[in-house]
This record gives sequence, C-alpha cells and structure tokens, in this order.
Amino acid sequence: MLRPLIISPSILSADFAKLGEDVRAVDAAGADWIHVDVMDGHFVPNITIGPDVVKALRPHSKKLFDVHLMISPCDPYLEAFAKAGSDIITVHVEAGPHIHRSLQAIKALGKKAGVTLNPGTSVSALENVIDMVDLILVMSVNPGFGGQSFIPGALDKIAAVRALVGARPIDIEIDGGVTPDNAARIVQAGANALVAGSAVFKGGNLKGNIDAIRSAATMARGEAA
Ligand code: DX5
Ligand code: ZN
Repeated sequence: MLRPLIISPSILSADFAKLGEDVRAVDAAGADWIHVDVMDGHFVPNITIGPDVVKALRPHSKKLFDVHLMISPCDPYLEAFAKAGSDIITVHVEAGPHIHRSLQAIKALGKKAGVTLNPGTSVSALENVIDMVDLILVMSVNPGFGGQSFIPGALDKIAAVRALVGARPIDIEIDGGVTPDNAARIVQAGANALVAGSAVFKGGNLKGNIDAIRSAATMARGEAA
C-alpha cells in the first residue's frame, strides 16, 4: 500500500526577514507539511533557527511542522522543539552516540520521531531503531545548505530503506536537490515524502513549483494527475 504523497517545502529557502508570511504562502500554495531546517554551526557548517522561531511560526500554519534537527547534541533541545509546536522531530544517527535514547525522548514527548542518514552513512545504521520511528529521511545532499545538487546514489539508498521498512507504517522522505526532473525517480525508488527548498521558492511561483513536483511524482506513482 502506497503511503500518501507529501510535498514538504523547506523554509530554508524562504526570506528569513518575512518567515511568517512565507510559511503562510507555501501553506496556501499547497504544501502538505512545512520542513524546518535547524542548524547549529557545529554538526553542520551553517546556523539557522532555534525553538523560539518555530514557536513564532506555529500560528502561521496548521500544516504539520516537519522539523529536521541538524544539531549535536540534540537531546537537550528536544523538549523545547516539541513545546514550540513541532509535529515530527527528525534527528541524525550521526549526531551522537545514543540515537535510541533520542528517539525514545521524542516519542515520550508525544511527537512523531524521524531518523535521518547523511550521504556517507549506511542504511544498516537504521536496523536497531527502525521499530521506533515514524519517518526515515534519506539525505540526498550533505546537510548544511540549500541549493546543492542531488547525489544520485541516494536513489539506491531509498530502495534499500524501502526494502528494510517492508510493511511498517513509516514515511520515507528525501531531502536535498529535489526538483520536478528527479521527483519521478525518487518516488519510483520508494520515497513518499519529498522535501524541496530552492525548487519551491525559485522565481516566487510557489504554487506552480509545488504543482510541478507533485504532478511528476503523482504520475510516477501511477495515480491520476
Ligand atoms: C539541507 C537541508 C535541506 C535543504 C534542501 O541541509 O536539510 O532541507 O533546505 O534544499 P534544496 O531543496 O534547495 O536542496
Ligand atoms: Zn532538511
């Protein structure tokens, strides 16, 4: 059974001087989820936003907030991101030695738990935590920046994750370099949730850009466009 197709625009590509307005705009343009990239200048070579910004954005959309933590350590901040209104909290297996504990903590906070892998990390890193997660995020760029090119090896990785997941009710998400041109291959490999930053905000035609990704993915899933 196919899980629903999800387009999750990354507000990393929004105008940070008017984030609330841009969240309302991607919501109105048809985003299923809102992808929030949290970077700490330590786990990744860039710094973005913290829980207070998530809290400030929360009233601007009722869509699910898909919060991607690129921070290490993550455990001291999980409660703050949960209280700020995150719906899914995704942590990197590379962020610390106790991924199992981090996922337990997210579940204990009543949130959906996601786990993610950098391009250099093998799918086997998921084997001991797969029954704890609601979402697996496959990074198709090295995290830290928007606008990078899709790493083609991510397609085989999605397929390996798809096989590992089997019938479990887990969303498989891809993040980095997603465009209308590669969306078909991504869903054919087995992902159902597509993050896109630059491809959504490019040129300011949010609805047209989201629709282009959605229609390529919808056709590849064999569903009516
Ligand atoms: C990268 C972030 C991505 C990024 C994707 O570290 O996790 O979510 O915003 O941006 P694009 O779609 O431009 O590659
Ligand atoms: Zn992300």
